[in-house]
Amino acid sequence: MSNLTEQQRRAYLDAMGIDLWLPRSAPDIDPPLEAPASGAESLDWDELKSCVESCTRCELHQSRTQTVFGVGNPDASWMIIGEAPGAEEDRRGEPFVGRAGKLLDEMLRAIGQARADVFIANILKCRPPNNRDPRVEEVGQCRQYLERQIALVKPSIILAVGRIAAQNLLGTDSPVGRLRGRRHSLGEVPLVVTYHPAYLLRSPSQKRKAWEDLSIARTIVAGAVG
Ligand code: URA
Repeated sequence: MSNLTEQQRRAYLDAMGIDLWLPRSAPDIDPPLEAPASGAESLDWDELKSCVESCTRCELHQSRTQTVFGVGNPDASWMIIGEAPGAEEDRRGEPFVGRAGKLLDEMLRAIGQARADVFIANILKCRPPNNRDPRVEEVGQCRQYLERQIALVKPSIILAVGRIAAQNLLGTDSPVGRLRGRRHSLGEVPLVVTYHPAYLLRSPSQKRKAWEDLSIARTIVAGAVG
């Protein structure tokens, strides 16, 4: 078919039922992501806070009312890590202030801790619209903020509440049911996984297991400070 025009060649191939694979004029790849958050590892608490407040590293900054840095004692023994702010948290700028937050407060009270004693943060500092799951690139952009918070707080225990926190912190896709009930670690810091309080509101029969997890965490803290 060497003397054929390109148009004729394509018409023949088409008539023979042969699919023609054409090179794309430009490679169809996603634009590169902005480099992951960097530089946070040298920031002090106040610098980190203002860095988070002005963050525009992912698209969530466009829809947020405000960032939700975290709340509590920056020298806490207990660090509680959840998923991401919801609507109420986005409005108030504080994590876990909705119904799930009330249950988290009760869980903390059961182990002798008040909200002001522990430090509560989330995997994401901004609310994903319609409470959808955090996206990989959002978690990636936000991760160094949380890592810096953990490095500055130096907790004796991290309590990861819910699937998103547990899976992202431990780098696994195992379900919470398999991760809970035992000690993990994040670098040097012991970590215990438990159910998210929002899940416990829907499945109160699982509260007993959450209590077991809290007891494991409490034993670890007692060993660390005792
Ligand atoms: N759920 C979370 O995981 N974090 C919050 O701050 C609120 C609800």
